[in-house]
Amino acid sequence: MLLTKKIYGLTTALLCAFSFNVSAEQIEIKFSHVVAENTPKGQMALKFKALVEERLAGKVTVKVFPNSQLFGDNKVLEAMQLGDVQLAAPSLSKFKKYTKKLQVFDLPFLFKDIDAVERFQQGVEGQKLLNSINRKGLQGLGYLHNGMKQLSSSSEMKTPTDLNGKKFRIMSSDVLAAQFHAVDAVAVKKPFSEVFTLLQTKAIDGQENTWSNIYSKKFFEVQDHITESNHGVLDYLVVTSKSFWKSLPKDIRKDVKAALDEAIAYGNGIAAQKSTIDKQKIVDSKRSTIVTLSNEERQQWVEAMKPVWKRFEKQIGKNVINAAIAAN
Ligand code: SIN
Repeated sequence: MLLTKKIYGLTTALLCAFSFNVSAEQIEIKFSHVVAENTPKGQMALKFKALVEERLAGKVTVKVFPNSQLFGDNKVLEAMQLGDVQLAAPSLSKFKKYTKKLQVFDLPFLFKDIDAVERFQQGVEGQKLLNSINRKGLQGLGYLHNGMKQLSSSSEMKTPTDLNGKKFRIMSSDVLAAQFHAVDAVAVKKPFSEVFTLLQTKAIDGQENTWSNIYSKKFFEVQDHITESNHGVLDYLVVTSKSFWKSLPKDIRKDVKAALDEAIAYGNGIAAQKSTIDKQKIVDSKRSTIVTLSNEERQQWVEAMKPVWKRFEKQIGKNVINAAIAAN
C-alpha cells in the first residue's frame, strides 16, 4: 500500500515536471492569447518574452502563441489547469466558471474611464480579486488594460431602442448577456476567433469591443456603424496556475514576476496609444461611420442598462461594487 502510494506520488511529480517543461536546464513558459500581435496584449506578451529571455538566458524560454493559435479563450484556462500552458491573459469577462467576483468589470457604465479602472485594480479590493480564482488552482498575477468598449453594428445606434431585436456577440459573461437583454437585444456568446466571420456573414448584427480589437481584427470593415459608447471596460487578468508558479525556484519566480510587471506597464502604455490611434485609423478608412452620443442620449443608455447592477450585486459583493464606484 505504502509502496503504491510512493510510486503514485513519484509518477505525479514526474508528470508535473514534464507537463510544465521544468527541467534542470531550461523552463519553458507557453503564453497563449487570442488577439493579434499589434495589440496591447500582443505587444505585452512579446515584451515579456524579450525581457525574460534577456535576463534569464539559458534558464527560461517563453513561447508566445497569438491569434488563438494554441487555445481559444474558452479552453485556455482548462489547459492551464492541466499544465499544457503556463501563462495567459483572458479578458476579465471570461472567468465566470472560476469566480463570480470578476463580473464587477462587466457592469455597464460602472467605470467612467480607464484611469478609474486602474485606480480600482490597484486598490485594496482590486488586488484581492487577483486571488479570487485560487480555489480553482489559478493565480492572478496582474491586470492589463485594453480599453473602453464601443458598440458596432450593421445599423445606426443612437438610443437604446435602436438595439431592440438585434443580435450581438458577447464574451462568455452573464452580466454582458443581461446588459443586452436590458435593451431588448439578443446576446450570443461566441469565441473571439469567430466574431469576424459571424459579422461578415450577417449571422449576427453587431458586437462590443475596444478600438484596438475592432481595428486589428478588421471588424470595422464589415460593420457600417460604431457608436462611441464607452459603456464598459475590456481588460485582462494575467494568469498562471498555482502549481506552475510554486514549482518555479524562488529567485526565478521573482525575476519572472518583475519582467511581467514591466511588460504589463509597457502594454498599458500601448493600450493608451491604441485607443486613440486605432480609432483614428478607423475614422480615416471611412468604412464605418462613428456615432458620438450627446449627454441626453448617453443618459438613456445608462438608465436602460443600470438595473443590471442590482441583479448581480449579491454574486459580486456590494463592497466590491462600492470600491469600483469610489474609484471614479
Ligand atoms: C481579447 O481581447 O482578448 C478578446 C476580447 C473578446 O473576446 O472580445
